Amino acid sequence: MRRKLAAGNWKMNGTAAALSELEELARSFPNPSIDVLICPPATLLYRAAETVRGTDITVGGQNCHAAISGAHTGDISADMLVDAGANAVILGHSERREDHGEQNEDVRAKARVAMDAGLKAIVCVGESLEQREAANTLDIIGGQLSGSIPDQSTGENLIVAYEPIWAIGTGKVPTLDEIGEVHDFIRTRLERRFGEGVGRSVRLLYGGSVKPSNASDIFAVSNVDGALVGGASLKAQDFSGIIDALQKA
Ligand code: PGA
Repeated sequence: MRRKLAAGNWKMNGTAAALSELEELARSFPNPSIDVLICPPATLLYRAAETVRGTDITVGGQNCHAAISGAHTGDISADMLVDAGANAVILGHSERREDHGEQNEDVRAKARVAMDAGLKAIVCVGESLEQREAANTLDIIGGQLSGSIPDQSTGENLIVAYEPIWAIGTGKVPTLDEIGEVHDFIRTRLERRFGEGVGRSVRLLYGGSVKPSNASDIFAVSNVDGALVGGASLKAQDFSGIIDALQKA
């Protein structure tokens, strides 16, 4: 059985004051029956890890460099994330692909070093609105999967997040059938590439405008093992509603 996961992506939001939200979350869910992960900005990672110490909540990074170390001003290595207390890292988020021109092969190289460092790699895939309207969604997702996911992936070190670009931060969400179609497709692709055992054990998250009000419906879709949540992860109260829904799913 795949353990459900509620992952929060704070993006470039939050200074030390935001840790009070994490404190509240840790007070409300010291031992959740699902995995709960918060990915704060890198500047808060160490303090966030200290904040959740002693609970089952974990923290993760939002990106890492593909090199182990070296002359890469402003970048962060996978080992540094581990050192700061992370057990996971989001990779290939569409905002990284757009803002920093990250290609599938970059994401794959990052996922490789992340896995080597002992991190779970949350590899994000998703189509644009134009691609969906042109009925290219599954082609795009298929290409991102084969290009971004490294061969060493297992059910332990890989998590895939399906995040339609047009649903991120927009309040727009695909229909439940559309989510199910893509998640089933991702599952089939993973089984074909890695074999049924590994393919079935990788967790698949949906991301894009998940809120307490739509979470239960989304979590009932087949092959949805949780969510990657942006805006609604910033406030403990909102994220708690999503955790509650996933615990009941
Ligand atoms: P959102 O972002 O929940 O604010 O739409 C999701 C994400 O980008 O991971």
